[in-house]
Amino acid sequence: MVVVPVELPHHRYDIVIEPGLLEHIGERVYALAPHDRCALLADGRVLPLHGDALRTSLESAGYDPVVATIPPGEEEKSLSTVAGLYEVLLDHHLERGSPLIALGGGVTGDIVGFVAATYLRGVPFVQCPTTLLSMVDASVGGKTGVNLPQGKNLVGAFHQPIVVLIDPLMLGTLPARELRCGLAECIKHAVIRDAALFDYIGENLKAILEVNPAVLVELVRQNVEIKAAVVVEDEREKGVRAHLNFGHTFAHAIEVTSGYGHVQHGEAVGLGMLAASRTAAEFGLCAAALHDRLRELIEAAGLPVKTELAMDDELMQAMQLDKKAVGGRMRFVLPDRIGSVVIRDQVPESCVRAGWEAIRS
Ligand SMILES: NC(=O)c1ccc[n+]([C@@H]2O[C@H](COP(=O)([O-])OP(=O)(O)OC[C@H]3O[C@@H](n4cnc5c(N)ncnc54)[C@H](O)[C@@H]3O)[C@@H](O)[C@H]2O)c1
Repeated sequence: MVVVPVELPHHRYDIVIEPGLLEHIGERVYALAPHDRCALLADGRVLPLHGDALRTSLESAGYDPVVATIPPGEEEKSLSTVAGLYEVLLDHHLERGSPLIALGGGVTGDIVGFVAATYLRGVPFVQCPTTLLSMVDASVGGKTGVNLPQGKNLVGAFHQPIVVLIDPLMLGTLPARELRCGLAECIKHAVIRDAALFDYIGENLKAILEVNPAVLVELVRQNVEIKAAVVVEDEREKGVRAHLNFGHTFAHAIEVTSGYGHVQHGEAVGLGMLAASRTAAEFGLCAAALHDRLRELIEAAGLPVKTELAMDDELMQAMQLDKKAVGGRMRFVLPDRIGSVVIRDQVPESCVRAGWEAIRS
């Protein structure tokens, strides 16, 4: 078993990674949040696959769990879904000490985290992530929230979980495309912080895509250590946490202009990292070879390296509207080598356009 502690000034919690952990989640949660009730709030696709084992584990530990499903999909990450969950919790008289357990990917974690942050002004929250993306990224760091019609993640709260429980065996049922999207975020972590992780992913790609448990434990461990370190350094995204947005300014523009849902977020992040690395080379921050190494890994991971989007002004405008822009000025997270990035807000348009050119088919 691997345990990665997250030591925030006001709160500490563990991220536990172990194949087969699903069957022991009840006892782990009960040790931290003993109560007669708890709520298992699960992605509708994941519940039939893994919900019975978790429910049994919660019952054996002494809970009488309320079980509710959240329909899968980004479009369900809304205030109306949140309101529906409040109703369920109120109908079953869940109290301030009753933990809420999120079983699903990043969508479920973000929704349930927001419900946990706000229901009765805050109740204990447990993350049981079931996608690679949510294991290595979304479940760690306490960012919760939902989308509004005007944009993604516009309403939310910081609410840290009491524990994150990761069973990599659940990735066995994850569609391959989703697994690859999670891998894009792992590659992102490697580029921003850890050249050795970059090599590890390259060397173990086949085993990762075949969901080899030992390799996945190691992959998830290395990634949550990076994410946890960034979060501990900058919980409220005032500084280095912005490094996690590497590739995201381009990715956001790709998602907006192609219409949400056509390109998966992880695919857009892969393309965005390629555009950003070419931009960085044009800007004189790094060697052109960095882009080539990154492209080789992203391609080998089965992620797209080209997009058919026309390189027009719509993309540039979409970048400017990214909520991560500051004072209307675009900010870019750019690599200066594998394992290190810097933030720049005065990048010439010609460098940005060169970035787009690098991924245009
Ligand atoms: N809070 C954060 O810090 C943070 C960070 C990154 C991303 N996010 C959010 O995460 C969301 C994306 O998360 P995601 O990529 O996990 O997507 P997701 O939660 O939509 O899951 C992807 C798909 O996989 C299915 N699924 C999940 N686990 C499965 C399993 N084990 N077996 C079979 N099917 C399974 C789901 O039903 C869904 O259809 C976005 O809303 C994004 O904003 C949040």
